[in-house]
Amino acid sequence: MKRTLLLFALLFATTFSAVADKGMWLPSLISSRIKDMKSKGFKLSAEDIYSVNQASLKDAVVLFDGGCTGEIVSEKGLLLTNHHCGYDAIQALSSVEHDYLTNGFWAMNHEEELYCPGLKVHILVRMEEVTDRIATGETKEEIIAKAEAEGIGYRAKVESMYYGNIAYLFIYREFNDVRLVGAPPTTIGKFGADNDNWIWPRHTGDFSVFRIYANENNEPAEYSASNKPYKPARHFQISTKGIKEGDFTMIYGFPGNTQEYITSDAVEYIAKLSDPLKIHFRTERLDIIGAAQAQSPKTRIQYAAKQANIANAWKKWQGEVKGINRLGTYDKKVAYETKFRAENPEKAYILDSLKAAYERNMEGYFNYELFNETLRGIELQQVVAIAKSEKLSDEQKQAAAELFYKDFDVNVDRQLAVAMLKEYEKYSSFISEELKALFAQHGGAENYANWLYDNTTLGTLEGFTVEAAKSDAMAEFVAAIAPIQKRVKKYTYRNLSNIPDIEQWFRPYVKALMEWDKKRAFFPDANLTLRVAYGKIAGYEYADGEWHLPQTTLEGIIAKDNPEIYDYNVPQALRDAYATKDYGRWGVDMYGKYTVPVCFIATNHTTGGNSGSPVLNNKGELIGINFDRTWLSTMSDIEFDETLCRNIICDIRYVLFVVDKVGGAGWLIEEMGL
Ligand code: ARG
Ligand code: GLU
Repeated sequence: MKRTLLLFALLFATTFSAVADKGMWLPSLISSRIKDMKSKGFKLSAEDIYSVNQASLKDAVVLFDGGCTGEIVSEKGLLLTNHHCGYDAIQALSSVEHDYLTNGFWAMNHEEELYCPGLKVHILVRMEEVTDRIATGETKEEIIAKAEAEGIGYRAKVESMYYGNIAYLFIYREFNDVRLVGAPPTTIGKFGADNDNWIWPRHTGDFSVFRIYANENNEPAEYSASNKPYKPARHFQISTKGIKEGDFTMIYGFPGNTQEYITSDAVEYIAKLSDPLKIHFRTERLDIIGAAQAQSPKTRIQYAAKQANIANAWKKWQGEVKGINRLGTYDKKVAYETKFRAENPEKAYILDSLKAAYERNMEGYFNYELFNETLRGIELQQVVAIAKSEKLSDEQKQAAAELFYKDFDVNVDRQLAVAMLKEYEKYSSFISEELKALFAQHGGAENYANWLYDNTTLGTLEGFTVEAAKSDAMAEFVAAIAPIQKRVKKYTYRNLSNIPDIEQWFRPYVKALMEWDKKRAFFPDANLTLRVAYGKIAGYEYADGEWHLPQTTLEGIIAKDNPEIYDYNVPQALRDAYATKDYGRWGVDMYGKYTVPVCFIATNHTTGGNSGSPVLNNKGELIGINFDRTWLSTMSDIEFDETLCRNIICDIRYVLFVVDKVGGAGWLIEEMGL
């Protein structure tokens, strides 16, 4: 209790320091930032952002599919998120006959909206600190059970902040009936694809439209044709008035993971070992998948979502390593630690203990990451897991297998297995005796991988039976890697620094920093809990003499148009609109032209998970959907540099333009109150 109070006294003490736009703040404590926000132009109150007594903006923000953010924009549960966040759902509903990825999808009424099995959204009911309850002996499980008993569809989580110094309870309502309402074609929603990913200037219409359904009492319910559109406590108003450099922006969403307080050892691990090797493995996987996709339209669709997931972090890590090196993050951390030691000699042992803890755990964490990036990438092992599942009936197993094979090509998987087993053999220090024996028996990793795919009968759905899967060569492989999986389990944490043996030393370290470094604005690292970040619309100096403007327009899309290249093949509807300047009410005069705004950048501190987040103006109105950062910013998970770090947002006016002029779904525009 005392400890918590002390921490918060310190937090409040540092509240008004001028540490600009860095930080991801807990909404329930936003009153500590509100003065700073107002000085930067914000017009609303802390209660408008988060309240347990009345409807507030937080009621319109959702955790989308467990890893993205979305926002409710109508009183009928209409939901906006990114195209890349809806991608799995859109892909799962797609086939060669109904290729919603390529062609887009637009429901013209509620009946045409498509239920997305497995897709869930969570809306925060409230959050509260439970540090004291845990200190007095209540377990997390007890706290969660009590919270979940409070209401229908309630799901609770206890999350620690500042490496376990503070604990928070988050209570959500979980909605299972979510339906696809609209998606632009890939050549808008994923325009420029991996080439443009993480890049500014950007022209991607990265949005998709869903709807939450509830039962007749407006409560979460399993899918049923009789469910009704959910009536939210609050939805976002949209502003189409436009934006300009310097305008206040606020982002409200679920950032997933930052590592603001790690020490130099962890920075070195990331920049020298972990990122470079993960990049290397993924380059190989992407080459294999890309070559197969280029040869077959079927494979292109089957591997679209997988490819996008692998490519995304692959490119992000490259920017991260460059950024860490450019900023000299490692040297800065060393200097900071040296200063801390000098000024707090009685606490220097904490840093010694941290160092020793890193030494104890680094090899294990590396092997955990290696396991994930190499062996886990061999997909066929999943059907063995399905066959052996104790939870599924035989019928359910067959259904799960069918779903698996829908997006699986055994020739691709064989090549992945060859490449990844070779890498695993080269880098692992946790290899099991069983896997070693298989390698030895078949003449090395490569020969074994080929033997495995020559001998398994599970390569296609026709060869799959639950019984066969249990005794197949693939089952033998799964058994051989099981001991490795067991061994790396101990290291299965969000980051190296979250391994309990390390985290136990971060607890006193961060506390000591708060007591010592009074000028620093401390925020709890992102952990997929709801946060507010604020800043402004701003261009930046990309390179010497090269300033990047904060807003792109349709002109840039047309300039990139190339029918020869899949990812730059602009839909004809957009070309037509451009040719006739038929922009309806979405046209603006900008940069001396009559055009349509497309994307913009701002200084909001964001990370993965913030995709799909509402970006709001100083009145809390929706001006865009966050979807990316620039390549030069991705080290902001470790060090945020406000002269350089920019998040990338799809302008809401482009979203509306596409819904209207490409989708022809004017009924949605009307529903959004425009
Ligand atoms: N870079 C963005 C994010 O981190 C967008 C990713 C989606 N696009 C892609 N090509 N994978 O999620
Ligand atoms: N695209 C990211 C996401 O899926 C957001 C970009 C970032 O990492 O900042 O959440």
